[in-house]
Formats: sequence, C-alpha cells, structure tokens
Amino acid sequence: MMAQRKSLAQNTDLFPREIDIEICLKTLKIYQKLEGDVNCVVWDAALVLAKYLETMCQNKPDFLSGIRVLELGSGVGVVGLTAATLGAQVTLTDLPEALPLIRLNINENKAKIGSMGGYAIAESLIWGESSSLLDDEFDVVVLADCVYYEEAVDSLIETLKSLTNTSSKKPVMYLTQEMRDSDTQRELWSSFYGKLTDNFNVDKIPEEEQHINYRSADILLLRISKK
Ligand SMILES: C[S@@+](CC[C@H](N)C(=O)[O-])C[C@H]1O[C@@H](n2cnc3c(N)ncnc32)[C@H](O)[C@@H]1O
Repeated sequence: MMAQRKSLAQNTDLFPREIDIEICLKTLKIYQKLEGDVNCVVWDAALVLAKYLETMCQNKPDFLSGIRVLELGSGVGVVGLTAATLGAQVTLTDLPEALPLIRLNINENKAKIGSMGGYAIAESLIWGESSSLLDDEFDVVVLADCVYYEEAVDSLIETLKSLTNTSSKKPVMYLTQEMRDSDTQRELWSSFYGKLTDNFNVDKIPEEEQHINYRSADILLLRISKK
C-alpha cells in the first residue's frame, strides 16, 4: 500500500497571514510556521521593504513592470511576492531548507501574480557560495533583515559584490534592517555597514519617503548601488 504523505499545505503547523497590496487591490496569502527557524515567519523589515516597493509603484506605476528582481534571504517570501504582484519577474532565494515554504507561498499566490503580469520562482542561493544565479543580470536586488549573525557579514558582502562584478551588472539594491538593541547586534551591523560603504554607494532612504503606515525609526532602509 502506498504511504499516505501529508502535503506541506495540509500541515497544521502552518498559519496564513494576509498582506494587502493596496495599489492593485490584491491580497497576498502568506503561510508561516508555528515552529521553526528565522525563515518561517514574516519579519517587520520585510513589511517595510514590501510597502516601500508599493509606494515607489504608486509614484511611478511602471517602477517594477517587467523588471528582473532577485531577493536574497527571502524567508517566507513577502518582499519577492509583493514585487512579483507589482509586475516584476522575481527570483526568490534562500537556504535549501527554506524553499518548500517559499514555493508553497508562490503557488498560493500564483494566479494573483500572473494577473498582474508578474512571475516568481524560488532557487537556493547560499551567501558567499557560487551559484549560476550570480552570472545573471538583475535590475533590482532586495533583502530584508539578513544581517543577524557574524558569518553572514562577509558572505553577504561577497554575494552583493558578485551581483555587480561585471560592467553590465548594475542592479539597484534595496535593503532593510531592523536595528536591534544588543551590543552584539550593534557591532554586527556596524561591521556590515562599514564593509557595505567601502564597496558600494549607500543612501539612507528617509522615513518620509517610505510608506506612511509601514516605517519605523528602528528599521533602516538603504538604497545601494555600484561605485
Ligand atoms: C531574519 S530572516 C528574514 C527573512 C525575510 N527576509 C523577512 O524579512 O521576513 C533571515 C533570512 O536569511 C536566510 N539566510 C540566513 N543565512 C543565509 C545564507 N547563508 N544564505 C542564504 N540565506 C540565508 C534565512 O534562512 C532567513 O530566511
């Protein structure tokens, strides 16, 4: 007899969160997990970045239409799926173990994304490691709340450099990061930020340019480009 296997979508550990994308009247359904690692829940920095993309599209409706977006450390996929619903061709990436939940969320929202002309796929991309994705050219790179442990600092900088290492690669990168209170997290951010500014042009996007309801003094939003 064939073994009965429970699909990820039937897993009782999962619970959905609805995220409205006001400018196109779509609501994303994003599954999170009750228990698991940091890649199983939506972090506030992801909401700030997703809503910033929406704000940009409000000001410039074709901001994301048809453009190639890469997301690093997607988690459950809020930022990438928002970009796809706003019309972008998005590759969401994370550690291999995070991909089943991201793919479930892509599948759950596929019809909405398709109706807006967008597209989303998920691939493994481990910071600091080689990947054929790093040979591709992206118009925009997005990453939310990815600086939270020491080994991430150099490996993430390496990946960002790889994404800009030929003359034709000129993505604009948007990064959000929650500023946490502990000394360890402050030092980690300071180390990352120093290396980021050594290698890239970095602008802080003021709160007044962000979404009126989704911005916070504790969450930094940066626009990063090639020097
Ligand atoms: C704090 S979570 C943020 C998730 C999502 N961006 C959000 O804001 O909701 C950090 C993410 O980075 C991913 N991550 C951590 N180390 C990684 C690595 N070395 N390579 C790729 N992804 C990594 C984790 O799996 C997780 O999804």
